[in-house]
Amino acid sequence: MKIKDALELARKNGLPDLEAHIIIRFISGKSKEFIISHPNFEIDDEKFLKLIEKRKNGYPIQYIVKGKEFYKNWFYVDEGVLIPRQETELLVEKAIEFIEKYNVKKIAEIGVGSGAIIISILIETKTIGFGTDISDKAIEITKINAKRFKVEDRLFIKKGPFLEPFVENYNDIELIISNPPYVREDAILPREVLWEPKEALYAGKDGLEFYRKFLNMYDLSGKIVLMEIGHDQGDFFRKLGWNVIKDYSNNDRIAIFIDRR
Ligand SMILES: C[S@@+](CC[C@H](N)C(=O)[O-])C[C@H]1O[C@@H](n2cnc3c(N)ncnc32)[C@H](O)[C@@H]1O
Repeated sequence: MKIKDALELARKNGLPDLEAHIIIRFISGKSKEFIISHPNFEIDDEKFLKLIEKRKNGYPIQYIVKGKEFYKNWFYVDEGVLIPRQETELLVEKAIEFIEKYNVKKIAEIGVGSGAIIISILIETKTIGFGTDISDKAIEITKINAKRFKVEDRLFIKKGPFLEPFVENYNDIELIISNPPYVREDAILPREVLWEPKEALYAGKDGLEFYRKFLNMYDLSGKIVLMEIGHDQGDFFRKLGWNVIKDYSNNDRIAIFIDRR
């Protein structure tokens, strides 16, 4: 199929040109400029049709191109891990701020997913990181991203719940960060989100299950903890005496606990 016919077909299927271009770039390996200037170039029909069909059903474009820009870098993502969200970049900014302010050396992330959070922090600071996830795919993808950004010698990744895989290191960990599952189980999510892993999203009836378990499991004395939260979950943390900060859309977004001087 010629590029010009592929674009026409995409339009007929309700797909914006921008997305069709992204798909054609992915299939052909050609640049945006090449695609625009070579309308008669032949691309693989079968691959194009398959991806157009998937996209029509809400399959995320980031899984098609296998990447997402997050903070300052382009991370590898694929089915089985959450696509990092722009609003989560605030968690990275705050963590870096506290690492510098309190001269933090060792950090840990629960639920690394693609590794976008902890790897972004390691790139910007000289910290050593410990990351966990209950998903094999997340562990695999985080390791790939750690290599890509050359932080694999400072990032220890293990499969398991919460910080259990690193109990021996717990006392040395100064800052804990997480963007955990926090969606209530009856929430109606956009079509695209349904392609993402359930264990990355849902956290029981009120979406607070992960936080409750975490708070019951660990003694946080001497630690700094930053957790991403849902827009309606701030009061849960305020009642516990945590600080809650808002994102750029003015929604409660990060719960912060600091026991450091
Ligand atoms: C919302 S996603 C966040 C992924 C990534 N940190 C990000 O922000 O893009 C939550 C992640 O936590 C993992 N997870 C869920 N429960 C967990 C638990 N109890 N312990 C460790 N990881 C968990 C999921 O597999 C998923 O990768």
